[in-house]
Amino acid sequence: MRLLVLGGTHFLGRHVVAAALARGHEVATFTRGVSGEPPARVRVLHGDRDDPGALPAALAGWTPDLVVDTSCQGRAAAEHAAAALADVAGYVFVSSLNAYRSWPPGPVTGEDDPTWDTEDDEYGPIKAHAERVLAAALGDRFLTARAGLIVGPHDPLYRVGWWLDRIAAGGRVVVPADTLDQPIALVDARDLAGWLVEMAEARPGGAVNATGPAGMTTFGGLLETCREVTGSDAEWAPVTDADLLATGVQEWTHLPLWLTADQARTAWDVDTTRARALGLPSRPVRDSVADTWAWMRSSPRPAPPPGRTLPGLPPELERALLFAAAG
Ligand SMILES: NC(=O)c1ccc[n+]([C@@H]2O[C@H](COP(=O)([O-])OP(=O)(O)OC[C@H]3O[C@@H](n4cnc5c(N)ncnc54)[C@H](OP(=O)(O)O)[C@@H]3O)[C@@H](O)[C@H]2O)c1
Repeated sequence: MRLLVLGGTHFLGRHVVAAALARGHEVATFTRGVSGEPPARVRVLHGDRDDPGALPAALAGWTPDLVVDTSCQGRAAAEHAAAALADVAGYVFVSSLNAYRSWPPGPVTGEDDPTWDTEDDEYGPIKAHAERVLAAALGDRFLTARAGLIVGPHDPLYRVGWWLDRIAAGGRVVVPADTLDQPIALVDARDLAGWLVEMAEARPGGAVNATGPAGMTTFGGLLETCREVTGSDAEWAPVTDADLLATGVQEWTHLPLWLTADQARTAWDVDTTRARALGLPSRPVRDSVADTWAWMRSSPRPAPPPGRTLPGLPPELERALLFAAAG
């Protein structure tokens, strides 16, 4: 079938393109052409989805059957897509757990938990608005995949990547003492991408929490996997939540994936019963980590998306924490 990827040249979208080609679809991407281009077999459509005329102009003469939308970050972008693509047979939208009003800190008990209905220009309310606009246009031909933490090769946000780099560098590594045993869940971009294409074909409709099964690993297990994969002799320097906060360490941004224990307990508690029923795969965490490390060592680092700064522990905070931990 003719499958249009909105996005398709950066991280998740690139894997969606690969999966759609592997499943025999005739694939087109729609991007501004800023983040690179798709493989040669793909029809390249350019335009800015914030511009109401761009999608209809780019699609002139090529009508998609299916859409996988990886690039929506604004209310207008959703509205323009709903207007231009309301007749497609299946539309799968990449949303986020942030669409839920109560997440973070969660927990997310199921897809019927309330989503944002405010007008703020924030990520979660924008995703929730986009879901509503597209669902109104497409009805049961629309599925929204509320993604959790996406990992894997080509991740420009460098969350697992930062840990891999830091652990590979060796020595004493600051780790959050209170959450090493915390169950976490993540989804490999390649698992998610292949499944999004299948969902566009199968059209089950509705909403689904798209992440790995709760407890597929722990935070400490992920860090241990990073140590194994990099062959590092790094030693853990565990620091309590109280000491991390007192030193000025910011959750998630300074230490990627770190949330204080009280937040983490519910934030990682996401019901994925429907995702499992719909066959969202979950490869071993070790495969995701090893493949991410292989990619990091073989490819130039992509620039972070515009307006995003890469995560990481500022060196002066790391020095202070290691000094205190040694004392
Ligand atoms: N990373 C996570 O952990 C995570 C978690 C939950 C949800 N999500 C969601 O997952 C989706 C995929 O994220 P990703 O990081 O993998 O992004 P991506 O799809 O790999 O990259 C964004 C794509 O959109 C295109 N694009 C951006 N702005 C555009 C515009 N105004 N008009 C047309 N095309 C545009 C970019 O190409 P050009 O720059 O060339 O235009 C690029 O191909 C996003 O919707 C994100 O909100 C991510």
